[in-house]
Amino acid sequence: MGSKRQAQTVRPYPKGRHATDAELFAVRELIGPSEKGRDRLIEHLHSINDRFGHLSAGHIAALAHHLGLSQADVYETATFYAHFTTVADGKAPPPSTTLRICDGPACRMAGAKTLLKDALSAFGDQVQVLPAPCQGACDTPPSAILGQQRMAPADMPALEAHIAENDTAPLKRPELDKIEVSDTPAIRNTLEQAGLRGMGGAGFPVARKWAFLDTAPPDRVLVVNADEGEPGTFKDRFLLEAEPEKVLRGVLIAARSLQVKDVFFYLRDEYLHVHSTLSNALKTLVMDGVTFHLRRGAGAYICGEETALLNSLEGKRGQPRNRPPYPAQSGYKGRPTITHNVETLYWIADIAERGAEPYVDEGRPRFYSVSGRVKTPGVYRAASTASVADLIEMAGGMMDGHRFTAFLPGGASGGIFPARYQDKAMDFGVFEELGGFVGSGALTILSDHDDVWDVTRTLMAFFADESCGKCTPCRIGTEKMMGLIESPARHTDLIHDLSTAMREASICGLGQAAPNLVLSLLNHFGEADT
Ligand SMILES: Cc1cc2nc3c(=O)[nH]c(=O)nc-3n(C[C@H](O)[C@H](O)[C@H](O)COP(=O)(O)O)c2cc1C
Ligand code: SF4
Repeated sequence: MGSKRQAQTVRPYPKGRHATDAELFAVRELIGPSEKGRDRLIEHLHSINDRFGHLSAGHIAALAHHLGLSQADVYETATFYAHFTTVADGKAPPPSTTLRICDGPACRMAGAKTLLKDALSAFGDQVQVLPAPCQGACDTPPSAILGQQRMAPADMPALEAHIAENDTAPLKRPELDKIEVSDTPAIRNTLEQAGLRGMGGAGFPVARKWAFLDTAPPDRVLVVNADEGEPGTFKDRFLLEAEPEKVLRGVLIAARSLQVKDVFFYLRDEYLHVHSTLSNALKTLVMDGVTFHLRRGAGAYICGEETALLNSLEGKRGQPRNRPPYPAQSGYKGRPTITHNVETLYWIADIAERGAEPYVDEGRPRFYSVSGRVKTPGVYRAASTASVADLIEMAGGMMDGHRFTAFLPGGASGGIFPARYQDKAMDFGVFEELGGFVGSGALTILSDHDDVWDVTRTLMAFFADESCGKCTPCRIGTEKMMGLIESPARHTDLIHDLSTAMREASICGLGQAAPNLVLSLLNHFGEADT
């Protein structure tokens, strides 16, 4: 047995690799006694990765064995997600703790590149130091996560001490009070009168979405999309930290109104500090015939797209699905499914409690994430009619020594515009006429210290990295676009042709929206500003 095992361990890939008894036992202990099937695959991969700091070929073989899956299935799923570290037989595993330093625009403005370089040279042999896409903390840049613990900027100088302590326990949060929901039979009409739209980016009217379930069979599902990953967006994190009760009341109201059987929370892995709050709260939520589930993302921006999210919930690679069928017809495991953003659920609770009138009178408020070169980056509640200039003012004005030059109204996807458009409202339908959109309301402010081409290159690299690879226009297009904007010659015609192909032929919003950034840059800045 020993020599046979030796012969197997030189294989670089898990194919044909059999798990040893020790590996089978270790994985069984982590996943529990009777797990079969793949829908909890990602949770199991997390358990193993959390425990050992990586996934060995033996772990993958053992997990595949216990779940009754092929090793290729488990391997291709594990390698899709950035938060799993796979290690082939014969290779040394990396240090078991990971330090991820955000590489997004706001963190770069606050010195993330230097922090990353310093951390690599100081701690590279003790922890795995990695750059990471936006961590949803653009209000406190530069952002870093050590193991499962968020580092506040004030902790950065003490990084060494944290690493020495290997203090990776999640932050403790107070337990939530019991959440009560009064009967809300007329809520859908009220939401319609309020004109509430989805806050995840697309702005689809909530009441119309709910109507899709009117004739659906009863095994319905509600998904809470807490995967917030758009660079510059952190309002869902803020709401989950500051007002989780209200979000959960919205969930209960939606679950009751839509008569669902299961509610799934899909929580961004970078928001593990709210995992225990949610997990405790879900244990106290009681609603007849409804089961609540909490699932962790695993470091893939595309899983915020609702059909990619459904695949991830089913334990698969997070790749978007072709539509039709739409999720309301065939969503999670073929069941009728409605997905809502965290903030949408907050407003559902708000409108159910106060009625449509105050919401309309207040100008259909929403929560904006404001970051970049403002004095006090943060989440600001303002009417949908609030302009870019209003939000800069709410965020304390420009930082000293900075002149406002440009802004991104909708994270990485919503385009980039010069300061002269500062009086435009941060509302749905406004920036569309300029080739952009506000999406989830992530406003990033740039100054004369920033180079708009540099910001565009950073965000285009983000799209190229996060493209799931399912369709050619996006997989090849994002890479090709990187090359075109890095080239000293401006290939304007080629950029326009490529953008048309990406917009028209990409399967999902990532590939369709990725050209917005480059096209708006060319349209509104041009050569003189480069
Ligand atoms: C690439 C991509 C990423 C997305 N990321 C998120 C996200 O992080 N959170 C979110 O709520 N919606 C995200 N969406 C939108 C969702 O697909 C979906 O429209 C939304 O969750 C529906 O909820 P709502 O109607 O309450 O807005 C994303 C869409 C795309 C195309
Ligand atoms: S557009 Fe991009 S992210 Fe979306 S399915 Fe195609 S390859 Fe995947």
